[in-house]
Amino acid sequence: MDSVVVTGASGLLGAYVSVALSRRRAPFVGWSGTKEVPWAHRVELTDEDAVARAFDEAAPSVVVHCAAMSAASDCARDPDRARAVNVDATARLARRCDAAGARLVLVSTDLVFDGEHAPYDEDAARSPLSVYGRTKADAEDAALAAGDACVVRVSLLFGATVGPRLGFFDQQTRAIERGDAMTLFDDEWRTPLSLASAAEGLLLVAASDARGVLHLAGPERMTRLVMGQRLAATLGRDASTLRAASRTSAAGEPRARDVSLSTRKFCEAFPSWRTGTYEAEIKRAAQIARSAATTFGSGAAPPPLV
Ligand SMILES: NC(=O)c1ccc[n+]([C@@H]2O[C@H](COP(=O)([O-])OP(=O)(O)OC[C@H]3O[C@@H](n4cnc5c(N)ncnc54)[C@H](OP(=O)(O)O)[C@@H]3O)[C@@H](O)[C@H]2O)c1
Repeated sequence: MDSVVVTGASGLLGAYVSVALSRRRAPFVGWSGTKEVPWAHRVELTDEDAVARAFDEAAPSVVVHCAAMSAASDCARDPDRARAVNVDATARLARRCDAAGARLVLVSTDLVFDGEHAPYDEDAARSPLSVYGRTKADAEDAALAAGDACVVRVSLLFGATVGPRLGFFDQQTRAIERGDAMTLFDDEWRTPLSLASAAEGLLLVAASDARGVLHLAGPERMTRLVMGQRLAATLGRDASTLRAASRTSAAGEPRARDVSLSTRKFCEAFPSWRTGTYEAEIKRAAQIARSAATTFGSGAAPPPLV
């Protein structure tokens, strides 16, 4: 990979991709949306001229497209903006990659599925339940219109955040450490994957000639409640403050029951890719986030994990 553009470099996943590239001393250019981070500059993806200028300047051989309006609740609140960011901006980026002969790797989601037919492989029919899922499914089609493109659907991501923003995982960690009561779904299953392993998997795909759709997920199927309980155990804390709730009690759009992904195709294509247990990956992500805070000179270092 001569030069890589990472979109969404200020986000949870894009920051880990940036760290992984930086550790390999690979040349990359990070693009953020609104946030100032030391490893990226701001490029508003809905601004065609800004994207054209930034693209020509970076002259990438690969674009790892992590940027998205990623919160389902934000997408439901503003479907037009969700479409503009997730679909239209991806379509323009795909056309630009195509014209420049650059490769495009789009990060997509397990939420393109309705949760009723798990485990899902790459050929399973998509039937998203949310605005977010629908825009990501359309983004997949837009990306695959490019000549050299791969869509990587990742499952629920976990791990300490690199950078200033606190993600759900950091908030959960802090709440468990403080002993705050928390309600977690015990009827929503995912195959969670660490941000570190997701970034490493994406870079394998970026450096390959794989095309089409691949699934990248963790090895275990877990509910959100079990994830919280195992996080508490990893932190050496009491899990009794974590209460079970049904996903059907949540307000807003319906939530998918079980969007577990099968990664057989990915593991066959990339036999060197490995990920650890949930507990090992929590600790690995915390180390990466801490050392990145030192390397990049910014960002909130996560609390040490035992
Ligand atoms: N997190 C998960 O569990 C998960 C699971 C499955 C799939 N995914 C997918 O993985 C990818 C990364 O997700 P994430 O969790 O890292 O999301 P995130 O933390 O919300 O980050 C989103 C990134 O996109 C950027 N962005 C948003 N709107 C933009 C715009 N209009 N112009 C330019 N940049 C814009 C944001 O920039 P600023 O913050 O600087 O504004 C940020 O860097 C997304 O495609 C998401 O759909 C995530």
